[in-house]
Amino acid sequence: MKKTIHILNGPNLNLVGLREPGIYGHQSIASYLDTLRSKYPDVTLIEHQSNVEGELVNLIQAMVGKADGLIINAGAYTHTSIAIADALRAVQLPRVIEVHISNVYAREDYRKQSYIAEVCEGSISGLGLMGYELALIALLK
Ligand code: DQA
Repeated sequence: MKKTIHILNGPNLNLVGLREPGIYGHQSIASYLDTLRSKYPDVTLIEHQSNVEGELVNLIQAMVGKADGLIINAGAYTHTSIAIADALRAVQLPRVIEVHISNVYAREDYRKQSYIAEVCEGSISGLGLMGYELALIALLK
């Protein structure tokens, strides 16, 4: 059966491709995900993006029973949001992997803390947009 994998992107990730290209690259996440969809036709990949913390919580809650897995890049909320971490704890989705495009451990100290990582099976950081594909490969295992 076709697996449904949700991708949840947080604030400012809608601007990847334009935003700080030296850090995040020149390709938008939407165009990268189109490539992934054609490479993995047996997977339904559903992307959500919001700049609003509570909307991210609502989206996580709405995934109950509708996701075989979740790839989450909470953007800056990674480093601040107990609410998003609690939502993940509350709903217990089957599998959750955290992705960061940039290497958060090689940047400012405040990016080294993730409230999301502790409620995920694993985290990928610093491998660019390819991190989303690597997370997908892991979720398909
Ligand atoms: C990010 C890293 C965060 O620190 C930052 O606030 C982002 C993007 C990443 O994908 O590298 O918005 O999550």
